[in-house]
Amino acid sequence: MTKEEAKEKIAKLTQEINSHNYNYYVLDKPVISDYDFDMLLEELIKLEKEFPELLDKNSPSQRVGGEITKVFRQVKHKYLMLSLGNTYSFEELQEFDERVRKAIGNDFEYVCELKYDGLSIGLTYHNGVLASAVTRGDGEQGDDVTANVRTIKSIPLTLHGSDYPEDFEIRGEIIMPHKSFEKLNAEREDLGELPFANPRNAASGSLKMLDPKEVAKRELDCYLYYLLGENLHFNTHYESLRKAKEWGFKISGYMVRCSTIAEAYDYINTLEQERVKLDYDIDGVVIKVNSLHHQEMLGFTAKSPRWAIAYKFKAERLSTKLLSVVFQVGRTGAVTPVANLEPVQLAGTVVKRATLHNADQIEKLDLHDGDYVFVEKGGEIIPKIISVDDSKREGQRAGKIKYITHCPECGTELIRKEGEAIHYCPNENGCPPQIKGKLEHFISRKAMNIDSLGEGKIELLFDKGMVKSPADLYDLTFDKLIGLEKTYFLEEQQKERIVKFREKTVENILKGIENSRSVPFERVLFAIGIRYVGETLARKLAYHYGTIHALMNAGYDELINVEEVGSRIAESIVTYFSNERNVEFIQKLKDKGICFELDKDAMTANSAKVSDKLQGKSFVVSGVFTNFSRDRIKKMIEENGGKNVSAISSKTDFLLAGENMGPEKRKKATTLNVPIISEDDFLKLLE
Ligand code: IVH
Repeated sequence: MTKEEAKEKIAKLTQEINSHNYNYYVLDKPVISDYDFDMLLEELIKLEKEFPELLDKNSPSQRVGGEITKVFRQVKHKYLMLSLGNTYSFEELQEFDERVRKAIGNDFEYVCELKYDGLSIGLTYHNGVLASAVTRGDGEQGDDVTANVRTIKSIPLTLHGSDYPEDFEIRGEIIMPHKSFEKLNAEREDLGELPFANPRNAASGSLKMLDPKEVAKRELDCYLYYLLGENLHFNTHYESLRKAKEWGFKISGYMVRCSTIAEAYDYINTLEQERVKLDYDIDGVVIKVNSLHHQEMLGFTAKSPRWAIAYKFKAERLSTKLLSVVFQVGRTGAVTPVANLEPVQLAGTVVKRATLHNADQIEKLDLHDGDYVFVEKGGEIIPKIISVDDSKREGQRAGKIKYITHCPECGTELIRKEGEAIHYCPNENGCPPQIKGKLEHFISRKAMNIDSLGEGKIELLFDKGMVKSPADLYDLTFDKLIGLEKTYFLEEQQKERIVKFREKTVENILKGIENSRSVPFERVLFAIGIRYVGETLARKLAYHYGTIHALMNAGYDELINVEEVGSRIAESIVTYFSNERNVEFIQKLKDKGICFELDKDAMTANSAKVSDKLQGKSFVVSGVFTNFSRDRIKKMIEENGGKNVSAISSKTDFLLAGENMGPEKRKKATTLNVPIISEDDFLKLLE
């Protein structure tokens, strides 16, 4: 391909990818599959590698390009970043309306919008290109978080169309959608880290991370609500945001115009009901005077505009009876006190349980048996106990709720590390929920990927006493498994689930266990569940040390020098290997044929080209594979001299087919006589 051709192709791919990103992240209406999207992006990345001089800083491949920041640069806002006056009552809204009428007369309209519960951001664009992203800070100056914000896919790096001003700023709110929040907290709990209290804290914590690569994983989103600049030529706020939408920004579909404050009340009432359906938190509604001329007439006070006001939703609060306090032990041994409550309908859902967080919280609430408590559910998903409802107390108060001293699951004495709020059960290898948690982690997709043991099957094996450690899985046989059965009651869904091992189930389980023997070292290292060693770190450590033996013998001082290993992680690794039981566990797995050394190919693949075995051969890779991720397979193709292409043509040498490959691809390959090979066939090509 000539440079001219490449330039043209890069421009076309960039345009295509940007438009797919817009469809997916802004409009929430993807028009191609993730796989086809990946293919386009990959093609672009490849061309950019081949022609580095054509690489544009704002290419969609460059979202995660920023360096790790030491500290954020402070930037002065061109326009002060003010806040909004707020109220909780319709009376005060009425007063706001009267003030507005007094200043500009009766002929005007309002715009009502959602009040997003995140953190504000100011984005500046120069000639249609994102130039900077700055947090609110103290309103006069904030942190330059541009590298982090570039990773948010709903924020355009370059604008659509051509009728945008040369220079402008657009402000909005960075939020974390509920789905991403739940995923992130589940991962944190898995790693023994404290979960974020709510999506706003999670969004804020994420945006302040120093490594944009990590921010990219947090799946943040951004809604825009305020356009600023000189000579903008708009008459109304509504019009300015409609235009911003055309330029590619995410503007809420909930924005409406109202001709009276009474219509705004209707909007508020509707939203108060509808907010439970949103996939992100809002804490109210913002009402703005629409005409920019009117806005100018109204002006600002020292703190906020006179042309806008925020109506904040009151968190719904009710009083209900405390039935009991139970102590739950998580998979990391962390103990959480949970209050069982007399069920009450609150903000659209029935609340029967609320977390009490830790011992300090119980103490602070001064909780006694049989107390009535106020439960509150605001924008957040999780209900909170605010205080004891003294008005409902009758007669003598029952005993104070005492924090337990021993694990309710295994009886071991609990520990509480200095400076930490949480109690732990230290019996890592003997406490049932901790063992179960370890087993579930071991078989999970990103670890040993034994999904035939999912959906309650591993739990059944544990409950029947057949598997007490992941190593026991490798002793299972057909005869031991066939016919096992147990009925579980799923409380959340209020129904029973029968787990039964029939012939096909058993065959699948045994096959899954067998296949796990070829899982590479980096995933095994993740699977054994050393606290704080997540998927990425496990891979880093595997490549760094090459074998479990080397890792085991690395002391604290050596570990701390490895990239991304801090004192907490180094300590955790040393503690793990100093426990005899863990060493025995690894030995047992080794004896069963589990891989504790980096594959030699992978070792070299990590550094450079491996071979020319696939020289000149082109592959289309499709579907899901057993031993390797699709990305890894593609990398292997390139490392061995082959080429990845996105679409099948008569020039394609192989269609490498995993599970769940679309029927079209198979049909096309057959018609064009392109050989279809399996993962095993592919590995043979490399032998
Ligand atoms: S307009 C000059 N619109 O609420 C005022 N703000 O309490 C510009 N917020 O700092 C702000 N949703 O971070 C505006 N639809 C919305 C908003 C919104 C959330 C935040 C924003 C602001 C804070 C004020």
